[in-house]
Amino acid sequence: MRSLLFVPADSAKKLEKGMGSGADALIVDLEDSVALDVKPRARESAAAFLKEATPATPRPYLIVRINGLQTGLIDADLDAIAPARPDAIMLPKAEGGSSIVHADAKLAVREAMSGLPDGSIKIIAIATETAAALFRAGSYAGASARLSALTWGAEDLSADLGAEANRDAYGQFLDPYRLARTLCLAAAAAAAVTAIDTVYVDFRDSDGLRRECEEARRDGFTGKMAIHPAQIPIINAVFTPTPEALARAQAIVDAFAANPTAGVVGIDGVMYDRPHLARAARLIGRAAPTKS
Ligand code: COA
Ligand code: MG
Repeated sequence: MRSLLFVPADSAKKLEKGMGSGADALIVDLEDSVALDVKPRARESAAAFLKEATPATPRPYLIVRINGLQTGLIDADLDAIAPARPDAIMLPKAEGGSSIVHADAKLAVREAMSGLPDGSIKIIAIATETAAALFRAGSYAGASARLSALTWGAEDLSADLGAEANRDAYGQFLDPYRLARTLCLAAAAAAAVTAIDTVYVDFRDSDGLRRECEEARRDGFTGKMAIHPAQIPIINAVFTPTPEALARAQAIVDAFAANPTAGVVGIDGVMYDRPHLARAARLIGRAAPTKS
């Protein structure tokens, strides 16, 4: 998934617009973009939307961001939306593998009650929203087969840290958030799931967005979350492997296939070893957009 567009669950108009936005995934939001007294109506709206949207083909991957385990809202969220069978839930304010085990158990109960196959609803976790979460980033591996991706957030983390800002005057993330970003990348790699970059909130600044996408791709993120439809074409463009990158990856795969016992090959005067092969195979695997 290259682009994942947040849509507040209580906005029928934006849900409709999101479906036609070209985003690889929609994140129907029940958390921060929905006020507390609107949550019951937002749950109903999310469930109704999912029932209508899931049978469509092609369609974006459909995710619901529920409220966190600490809020007392999560059970009502899951009761409302699990029967409508989203592809995944997004778990905010996750604090390591134990949060995933907890959410996994809650999903398993709802799947059984709705007659859905066990494990069918995946989990994407936001892994850096509290200070405690940073210290548990290394504990996601093996927590649940549902865990399919990790992402990170700077807004809630800055609130938890008591910070005045999370970016400098030039728009670059400050140190605590660069650490959170790096921990998300490492946590995802250690758990063998994909890493998705956080949102770029200044939705009129397409140059800034493009730069941040390029930095994310360079460092190993395979997609980025969005808050506005105008961000989707930029994110999709940057995270779609270029024909040149694909050709280079194919050449590496071909060279190893032609020399199955080799640990290292040379192509055009450059050395490639096994880690390059793994990276090339991953790039080729990503080239087909993930639409269901
Ligand atoms: N998904 C789908 N459609 C969206 C959208 C989104 N995230 N954001 C904006 N749109 C639609 C608007 O409804 C508008 O539609 P229209 O032309 O038919 O009227 C169009 O895109 C242009 O929107 P624009 O006027 O530029 O922005 P806005 O002022 O209406 O909305 C936000 C700005 C930030 C409120 C809006 O982008 C939004 O709700 N984003 C998601 C917020 C969110 O979920 N945050 C939680 C995660 S951090
Ligand atoms: Mg938040």
